[in-house]
Parts: sequence; structure tokens; C-alpha cells
Amino acid sequence: MYKYRLYLLVMNITLRQLQIVDAIVHTGSYSLAAEHLHMTQPAISMQMKQLEHITGLKLFERHGKRIVLTSAGEDIHKFSCQIIARYNDMQETILSIKDSQSGRIKVSAATTANHLITQMIADFSKIHSGISVALDITNREQLLQQLIAFEPDIVIMGEPPPRLELVSEQLIPNPLVVIAHAEHELVDEPDVQFATIAEHEFVVREVGSGTRAAIERFFIEQDAVFKSTLEMGSNEAIKNAVIAGLGLGIVSLHSIKLELEANKLHILNVEGFPIIRHWHIVRSKGKYLLPAAREFMDFIIHEARIYAKDYNRFQK
Ligand code: PGA
Repeated sequence: MYKYRLYLLVMNITLRQLQIVDAIVHTGSYSLAAEHLHMTQPAISMQMKQLEHITGLKLFERHGKRIVLTSAGEDIHKFSCQIIARYNDMQETILSIKDSQSGRIKVSAATTANHLITQMIADFSKIHSGISVALDITNREQLLQQLIAFEPDIVIMGEPPPRLELVSEQLIPNPLVVIAHAEHELVDEPDVQFATIAEHEFVVREVGSGTRAAIERFFIEQDAVFKSTLEMGSNEAIKNAVIAGLGLGIVSLHSIKLELEANKLHILNVEGFPIIRHWHIVRSKGKYLLPAAREFMDFIIHEARIYAKDYNRFQK
């Protein structure tokens, strides 16, 4: 027994041999099996001799003109059927992964890009219904960790740090604006000095947020101290806190569309604002992108170009 185990380890049973067993069972002859598999009859006989040698079992016997399985052969054939079926499944999966119109893409985006990317995914899904997109929304620091670990296919975030090995392309501007609730004293001021808002306290995002880092950089450039009352982990929480009168906020214009429309929040016209950042589409250098992910990337870049044209026109 031990000797056979060792032998099986040294001489592997091949998928081809299992396919031949199956073909002989279905055709009842070596010559028809050979025809079916586009092989010669001697090659078929040799492979079956080898298989019987490896297993130490007689697998076929002749009943008149027909070749049939022995009972040991029947046991082996049951496994052959399962292995061949799984192999075929694998081939199907390989084909569907390679197909640009199906598969699954892992996208991660900065919390602040949530509205933007969700809309883009919705537009993408309308024309590529076979591709499913798994979206993770998190802050900049977490996105960088994910990129280092090669986890997402594609990331939408602010300016990626040059110290990491990444491939990135700039998409569209991401203006950061100062917001206040509707009754705030500065809402009707046509020109608010930066020094005036620097006196106020702000509701701010958590450490690790790209928006927060950009605001802090801006205040340092202006030689001002950034005063914050409350720290919050999402833009939704910041907006609610600003509406409730807990302080001013500095957020992406892309995150306040509904509140502006509903007149719940107002943008203050502050000297030096908006701070213009840019969204980028980023991936880890060396990460292999499947066709579906490439399709998605091309779509986002294309959409962003259209948006950027409108944005520039709007700015003139
Ligand atoms: P965050 O975003 O503030 O949501 O982390 C954006 C960024 O990556 O700069």
C-alpha cells in the first residue's frame, strides 16, 4: 500500500488520462475515443496502460466488441466525471473573468467622493449590467493602506502621495468651501475676510481624512491657527453639526448638493476659497487589471473629461 502511495505521488494521474477514460466509457471503444479526442489509437492505449500502471488497477475489460469499465474502473470514472466537470467550470470562470463585459470590480473611494462615485457607478451599471462593482467608502489614510496591500482594483481619492508606487490620473476639481447654517451672521456678507473665519470654530473630519489635511495645510500657509470644536468621521455628521449651529465647516462642494438645494446650508464667500483640490483615479503600480476593471477605469476617465469641460466653462 505504502509503495503505491509513493508511486502515485511520483507519477501523477493527468487530466488527459481522466478525459480518455470518460471518452472510452461514452464511445465503448479505443478507436472512437481516439477520434473524439483527436488523438491516435496507440496514444490512447499507451495512456490507459500508464494509468493502469500508476493505479495498479485494471480499469477496462472487453465485452465482445465493446470496452467496458471494471468495478474499479467505475470508481475511478466517478471521480473523473467530477474532476472534468470542475475543470470545465474553471475554464468557464477564466473566460468570464477575461470577458470585459462580466466579472466583479473592487473599487474604493474617499468618503468625500461618495456622491460623485456612486453616481458614476450607477451610470456605468446602466451600460455594463454584467459587471458588478463592490464599493468601499473610507478615508484617505485607509485608502493608502489598501493600495499598499494591492486590495482594490481602483481607488478614487485626492492627490496620491508620490512616495508610494502608484499609477494615477487626475480627474476633476474638488473645491472645498466654507459652509454655515442658514441663519449664520456671515451668510449675507458678500466678501468675508479669511481673518474673520479664522476667528471661528470649525466642525472637522477625523485625522486621516484628506480634506482635513488640506484644510490644516491651508491654515498653516495663511499663518493662522485652525480651531475645531468637534471632530467627526463623516461628511454627513459634519453637515448635521453645522446645520445644528455647532460651528462652521469646510467641505467638498460635491458633498453638499442636497443641503444647498434645500437651503439648509450656505456657502460663505471667503477670501482664498474655494481651496481647489483634485480627484484622482489611482491603482497600485504592478497590479494586474482584468478587462472589466479596465473598462470601468476608461469609463470614469471619459466621464470626468466631460465633467471637467463643463466645469471649466462654468468657471469662465
Ligand atoms: P477624505 O478625502 O477627506 O474623505 O479622506 C479625500 C482625499 O483623499 O483627499
